Amino acid sequence: MTRVLVIGAAGNTGRPIAEGLTAEGLTVRTATRGTRPPVSAAEHVRFDWADPSTHGAALEGVDRMYVLAPALVEDPSALMLPVLERAFAGGVRRVVLLSASAVAEGGPGLGQVHHLLRTQAPEWCVLQPSWFMQNFTDPRHHWAAGLQRDGTLTTATGDGRVGFVDAADIAAVGVRALADDVSHDTAHVITGPQALSYDDVAAHLSRVWNRPIRHVHASPEEARRHLRDGGMPDTYARLLTMLDGLIRDGAEDRVTDTVLRVTGRAPRDFGSFVRAHASVWR
Ligand SMILES: NC(=O)c1ccc[n+]([C@@H]2O[C@H](COP(=O)([O-])OP(=O)(O)OC[C@H]3O[C@@H](n4cnc5c(N)ncnc54)[C@H](OP(=O)(O)O)[C@@H]3O)[C@@H](O)[C@H]2O)c1
Repeated sequence: MTRVLVIGAAGNTGRPIAEGLTAEGLTVRTATRGTRPPVSAAEHVRFDWADPSTHGAALEGVDRMYVLAPALVEDPSALMLPVLERAFAGGVRRVVLLSASAVAEGGPGLGQVHHLLRTQAPEWCVLQPSWFMQNFTDPRHHWAAGLQRDGTLTTATGDGRVGFVDAADIAAVGVRALADDVSHDTAHVITGPQALSYDDVAAHLSRVWNRPIRHVHASPEEARRHLRDGGMPDTYARLLTMLDGLIRDGAEDRVTDTVLRVTGRAPRDFGSFVRAHASVWR
């Protein structure tokens, strides 16, 4: 039996990946920082990238892994690389990493993890999604918090467009990368079907939620201060503001056919996503 360790299994991609792999008949071990199993019919372990005492039991008897970064850490590679090296030494063959379209192989942080996988993992895949549609509905996300508070979205993205993608579609690609007999051994850039500006997003949200939503065009310094005032550590606020600049300059203005090609079904569009999640705001 192939056993897959799913890190972040209570999250936007980890949970549907754990459920999808269970449905495919694989043995799934969910890993979160909590003790409560997020998915029934799976083994569960407590796992924290920052707590080495949790790593041994999590990796025991594992063949494949889904990994995503520890939250709000500027350079997650410092915590992730030693765990992955230990995993390979212990017999893990395949690792599927959730990175981001904005992070190039070999760049800082997850770019280093991407490089390790491509060069040293027996089998590997890197998911490089664009920005998640869930950022507007997940109450933990700073945009969702701003929308809830006063109906504003504050960014330094200007008129730049983003191929927003539903985390469920990212997870569907991840399930194939983990479950397929033949390893994908590639990086998948994953987007939704349209590239939208934040003005477009605000217009969609206003229509579906039936309340005025406004995109505040901030300067990089204003956007960084806004994130900091919302409680985000300054180093992470600086990173997100830098990513806003990439969007403003057009780096995310693209769509790919990855979801259709890998899963056989088209990715969800933003209007349909917002309608399906309208209850979040009622
Ligand atoms: N949001 C975007 O637009 C976007 C775009 C591209 C890429 N990404 C990537 O997606 C990831 C986050 O996705 P998300 O925002 O949707 O969050 P999420 O997956 O819903 O939640 C983050 C998950 O990470 C786990 N986690 C956090 N810190 C951990 C730690 N120290 N040790 C073990 N597990 C830890 C959490 O597990 P617990 O259950 O233990 O809390 C949680 O399940 C990031 O790696 C980010 O680079 C996000």
